[in-house]
Amino acid sequence: MKIETDDLIIRNFDMADENDLCEYMLQRVAAEFESYPNFTPEKAKEEIVLRSKSDEFFAIEFKKTHKVIGNIYLGKRNFNTRELGFVLNVDYQNKGYGSIASKAVFDFAFKKGIHRIYAECAPQNIPSWKVMERVGLKREAHFEKNVSFHNDDKGNPIYWDTYVYAAINPNENDVNGKMNPSLSDDL
Ligand SMILES: CC(C)(COP(=O)(O)OP(=O)(O)OC[C@H]1O[C@@H](n2cnc3c(N)ncnc32)[C@H](O)[C@@H]1OP(=O)(O)O)[C@@H](O)C(=O)NCCC(=O)NCCS
Repeated sequence: MKIETDDLIIRNFDMADENDLCEYMLQRVAAEFESYPNFTPEKAKEEIVLRSKSDEFFAIEFKKTHKVIGNIYLGKRNFNTRELGFVLNVDYQNKGYGSIASKAVFDFAFKKGIHRIYAECAPQNIPSWKVMERVGLKREAHFEKNVSFHNDDKGNPIYWDTYVYAAINPNENDVNGKMNPSLSDDL
C-alpha cells in the first residue's frame, strides 16, 4: 500500500525505518494511553522485522524529511472488517497529521471494498476519539469499566471505559442483502 497526501506518505514499513520506529515507540513506554511498558531498543529490531512483513501496520512518513513519524494499524478482523489504530511521534502530534493519515487510509480501505472499520479508545483519550469523529466514524458504544492496563498501589486493577467508533463502507450496495461483490481481504 502507498498513499500520498500533501505532507505524508502512508506505506509499508521498511527495515531502514528501525530508528524512527524506536524513537516514537520509546516515547510510549510510560504513556498514559497506548503504552508499551516493555519496549526497548532491542525490541525495535524484532518489531521492524515483523512490521516490514506486515500488511496490517503502515508507516506514516513525513515527506519533507522522509522521517517515519508514526504508524497506522489496520488489523484484519472477521467479516471483512478492519480495526483502526494510530500512534504518532509526540513531536508531530496535535498538528493534524493523525486526522490526515487516518482519513487517507480510511478512504483507501473503503475504495478497496472493506466492509466496516472500527476503532476503540478510552474516553479520556480526547485526541484519539476526535480523530475518529473527524474521519467519519460514529460512536456506537460506551462500555463501562471493561478494560484494565494498570494496577493501583495495592495491585488492584484500575478499570477504564471504552468508546467504540465505527463506519460502514458508504460505497457498499447492501440493498436487499446484496453485498458489493468486489470485497477483498487485501489492501
Ligand atoms: C491520537 C493521535 C494519533 C492523534 O493524532 P494528532 O495528529 O495528534 O491529532 P490531530 O492533530 O489530527 O487532532 C485531532 C483532534 O484532537 C485534538 N488534539 C490533538 N492533540 C491534542 C492534545 N494534546 N490535547 C487536546 N486536544 C488535542 C485536536 O485539537 C483535534 O481536535 P478538533 O477535531 O476539535 O480540531 C496522537 O495524539 C497520538 O499519537 N497519541 C498517542 C497514541 C494514542 O493514544 N493512540 C490512540 C490509541 S486509541
